[in-house]
Amino acid sequence: MQHTEIAKIIRMEPSPVEIVVKGWVRSFRSNRFISLNDGSTIKNLQCVVDFENFEEELLRNITTGAALKVTGVLVESQGQGQDVEVQVSEVEVLGKADPEEVKRTILSPKRHTMEKLREQAHLRIRTNTFSAVMRTRSKLAFAVHEFFQKNNFFYMNSPIITGSDAEGAGEMFRVTSLPPVNPPLNENGEIDYKEDFFGKETNLTVSGQLEGETYAMGLGKIYTFGPAFRAENSNTSRHLAEFWMIEPEMAFYDLDMNMDLAEEFIQYVIKYALEHCADDLEFLETRLLNEEKNKPQAERSERPLRERLSFITENNFKRVTYTEAIDILKRSKPNQKKKFKYLIEEWGTDLQSEHERYLVEKHFKCPVILFDYPATIKAFYMRLNDDGKTVRAMDVLFPGIGEIVGGSQREERYDVLLDKMRAMDISEEELYWYLDLRKFGTCVHSGFGLGFERLVQFVTGMGNIRDVIPYPRTPGNADF
Ligand code: 4AD
Ligand code: MG
Repeated sequence: MQHTEIAKIIRMEPSPVEIVVKGWVRSFRSNRFISLNDGSTIKNLQCVVDFENFEEELLRNITTGAALKVTGVLVESQGQGQDVEVQVSEVEVLGKADPEEVKRTILSPKRHTMEKLREQAHLRIRTNTFSAVMRTRSKLAFAVHEFFQKNNFFYMNSPIITGSDAEGAGEMFRVTSLPPVNPPLNENGEIDYKEDFFGKETNLTVSGQLEGETYAMGLGKIYTFGPAFRAENSNTSRHLAEFWMIEPEMAFYDLDMNMDLAEEFIQYVIKYALEHCADDLEFLETRLLNEEKNKPQAERSERPLRERLSFITENNFKRVTYTEAIDILKRSKPNQKKKFKYLIEEWGTDLQSEHERYLVEKHFKCPVILFDYPATIKAFYMRLNDDGKTVRAMDVLFPGIGEIVGGSQREERYDVLLDKMRAMDISEEELYWYLDLRKFGTCVHSGFGLGFERLVQFVTGMGNIRDVIPYPRTPGNADF
């Protein structure tokens, strides 16, 4: 008989028809109550055995972590916490879990720190917290596709190995098949990449944007959703060396349309999560409340998780120019009292996350879109404003997260772009194809990048980005 998922069973009516359930034991109480979870939902299914009718040997193997096949009928539950339970007629232990070994892992029922769970990343998906986060992550990924597909965007796969390293979004990881010892050298004694797999230097991509732009110039509206790699030594709760990014790119969109899209997109996926991940978000909200009980009042969230999410979907993001933001920051208390680590003194300085968070969490108390940044602190491809010193850039800043989206209207004027590339020392030869776009039917176009893990972090309320990706890669850590 085909087994039924627990997510389905808990919504079924009691019935005399036998069902089969397969899952892993969360607990086995009083030789009678098996709490079974199969990953399909945060909820466990209670399976009741009449121990008098079962071999002792079999019962001994029903231990935390073991995989079971349970056959029985669904009856109304006498106990609290569930509507239905399984009256078990047959149990088969599919895979044992030695209790002594379980005691040494995160599967033992006592509470574990997030760090400890990270060391056992192959088992942490059996915990409530991680399964809730990963189910939510999966739903969010689906919502991303749904949003763009509904809005007539085409999904485009930009290359992961790239022969251009010109975007300057971050340090890159080299991709090579040359031997690490005694690689071939050229006449200057340098590594000869002509001998390498691709006949040139290649890297893992930091962003699919530039290739995305080429496709938007033919398909109109595209989005990418794939991994990006940055070899920065950023050991923070917001940075990964391998993360997933969503990058829409649209022909004939100016910066205002770009900002509208970013706002609508984020609201859509968060609303989707609220509607489709209700049980998991309820669990994560409680988890967060418990975690924050140990923190000083000032560090606790102002609202419970789901209220925070609804707030995003129900309120417009505040749009502010960089120049206005600098004025606010200059006059702010932490700046006046020299509480910021980096004091804001003049126009043109880059904003640090402490400044972004001040704007979002203290000043505006809502998501903020900052736009029209100084050209000098932004990438070469952003469109220069008429003032000659700011560019049509935008960053979406979120409470607790900081920058969640970075984007811009792109420089579509060939001469202006070329001047900019020369000034910023970006190779024209290497990016001839990017310049070509401005020679053959150039047009106003825009796009942005959203860091998927930062979104998942915001939605699930997890404090560290390492806990919202199955196998985090960070400086000094690429286990599994
Ligand atoms: O601001 P970034 O560097 O922008 C770009 O890469 C552009 N090419 C995007 C575009 O216009 N198409 O990165 C975009 C977003 C950031 O706002 C952040 O959410 C996320 O990607 N991000 C990271 N997430 C996790 N770990 C890292 N190291 C990240 N670096 C950027
Ligand atoms: Mg950025």
